[in-house]
Amino acid sequence: MMRGIIHRPHQGIKVTIKRMKTNPVKILAFAGSTRKASFNKKLVQFAVAGAEAAGAQVTYIDLADYPLPVYDGDLEEAQGLPENALKLKKLFSDHQGLLIATPEYNSGYPGGLKNMIDWVSRKADPDEAPLACFKGKIASLMSTSPGALGGLRGLHQLREVLLNIHVLVLTKMHALPRAMQEFDVAGKLKNLDTEKIIKGLGAQTVQMIQNLGT
Ligand code: FNR
Repeated sequence: MMRGIIHRPHQGIKVTIKRMKTNPVKILAFAGSTRKASFNKKLVQFAVAGAEAAGAQVTYIDLADYPLPVYDGDLEEAQGLPENALKLKKLFSDHQGLLIATPEYNSGYPGGLKNMIDWVSRKADPDEAPLACFKGKIASLMSTSPGALGGLRGLHQLREVLLNIHVLVLTKMHALPRAMQEFDVAGKLKNLDTEKIIKGLGAQTVQMIQNLGT
């Protein structure tokens, strides 16, 4: 809420007005692939565009910029959380929503993505509430792969894991098959209906955050 005072000398009065200052919804977006030419990195950009069109402020990150060792309790005990895990924890904490596009490897979502979730779920200090940086986040999920199922099986597994760590995963998600045919050389989706669906995932995330006031 911002309070402003407007001087109107010709009226000889002061008019006080209240102006609502609404903070934009903040969303963190990333792909579960670290590959440079990842189809999922391309896909999530459309959800980002949908969220931005709905008024959100979106932070897109590339997990390749946050390499992490394989989670090991002994390593954590000896050295604490790696710097990249701390950076990611802060990013999760600072955003209300998540947009995640993930590949499927051998019928499941990638181990690197699970490893990242595992590190981020750990407490940075003993007083931190359990799963603090996941709790209450609103997420929309999507996937794409060159195969016929588009990564749908991995998507369901990711959904289950996120729900268990108190992320509210929205019902509507999308698996896009035949990725090789769906994107043009510039990385744009060829099918306008698909583009609308993926942008819609971004928009639904913003709307739900606004509706719930999280
Ligand atoms: C795959 N791929 C794959 N695709 C799929 O639809 N179902 C699957 O089970 C698998 N399994 C699988 C295992 C491993 C180890 C690799 C490397 C790949 C193919 C995968 O979908 C394809 O490489 C995508 O292009 C990966 O996503 P990005 O990196 O393009 O986002």
